[in-house]
Amino acid sequence: MRSLLSRQHYFSPELFATERERVFKRLWILAAIRPMVARHLDFRTLDIGGVPVIVQNFRGRIRAFANICQHRLSRIHRTEFGNRALVCPYHHWTYNETGALAGMPKNATMFQFDAAQMAQVRLKEFAVETVGGLVFVNLDEKPLPIAAQFDADLLALLASATGHMDDEYIHTRYPARFNWKTGMENIKDPLHVQCLHRDSFPDYFDTGAGLEQIPAVDHAASAWRAVDLKQTSNKWDVPIETPQAHEWYDLVENLDSKAFYRGIHLFPNVNLMVVAGTSFAVQVYNPIGPEETEMHMSVVLTRPLKPFPYKPVVLWEHLKSDMKVLQEDIDCLEALQPNFAAARSEVTHGAYEAGIMDFHAAYLDLMGRA
Ligand code: FES
Ligand SMILES: [Fe+2]
Repeated sequence: MRSLLSRQHYFSPELFATERERVFKRLWILAAIRPMVARHLDFRTLDIGGVPVIVQNFRGRIRAFANICQHRLSRIHRTEFGNRALVCPYHHWTYNETGALAGMPKNATMFQFDAAQMAQVRLKEFAVETVGGLVFVNLDEKPLPIAAQFDADLLALLASATGHMDDEYIHTRYPARFNWKTGMENIKDPLHVQCLHRDSFPDYFDTGAGLEQIPAVDHAASAWRAVDLKQTSNKWDVPIETPQAHEWYDLVENLDSKAFYRGIHLFPNVNLMVVAGTSFAVQVYNPIGPEETEMHMSVVLTRPLKPFPYKPVVLWEHLKSDMKVLQEDIDCLEALQPNFAAARSEVTHGAYEAGIMDFHAAYLDLMGRA
């Protein structure tokens, strides 16, 4: 079956610009995990659809603003993570927790703004929804309800599982040379785990689980089925046959998914893994350009039950083993990216790739079939 997307969807600057407007500036996008903004004034910055965004904790309330000072458009926070008030480093304009301009040095002589002029200046604020330990931001003026993007059962699952996140985490990000959609197609592709990762995925994961129950599809059908946006975010459980016992499993909360490697795909660009009911690995494929993606990976354990002094070592080892597998994906995806632009051949999907086709169908709906 031919892909619903054209090759241009993977390298065209025009379609990339449309995608920013219609997908990333319209949907709820995972902008932080709660441990990143756990304390008063903790912030995280990131780029969503080309817009620099601040996610920040103000006395327990998480807010989101454009990271653009209203004086001469400097970045207010210049690091990805930190803890400081909303003070622009360029000329020290200061904003309060609602984004309103609170003051600046030497106003009486240098700026000469009266109270009415001051009141007109504020940072652009965006809608925020917190689900368990996940902080979503929506850049739209009239955001769709989050329940229109993720179904109620999935939201309840996310809230109950990620609500157990510890407040320590490890995080990395780096650029990769492929379109973000091939990253999401890859995580919706259970077969590649047995092939590409045959030698690196641990033996005790039953990576073939569920593959024999692939529903039949009609390859001759001229149109793919209509897909509700909510159908494109889903859960995939891989049984852990003989769980490797780690001593630290007894030191943290154990979730009811202990016997599984649980992958939760969140449209458009998140892969959340809950491993053995004791840890979370959060992967985000953030588009930077049509052929460039910034990969984000965070690892957090469930909350500790007892003192746990070697937790940083566990986090580091966890991240290292995840990155080893992920590097195989990246090498593969970076090598296939130039073929979208260069090759005349088209992508061909089989029955087991119905999840990828659903992802494409929902994406095309958002794109207005562009
Ligand atoms: S640009 Fe921010 S204070 Fe001048
Ligand atoms: Fe993979």
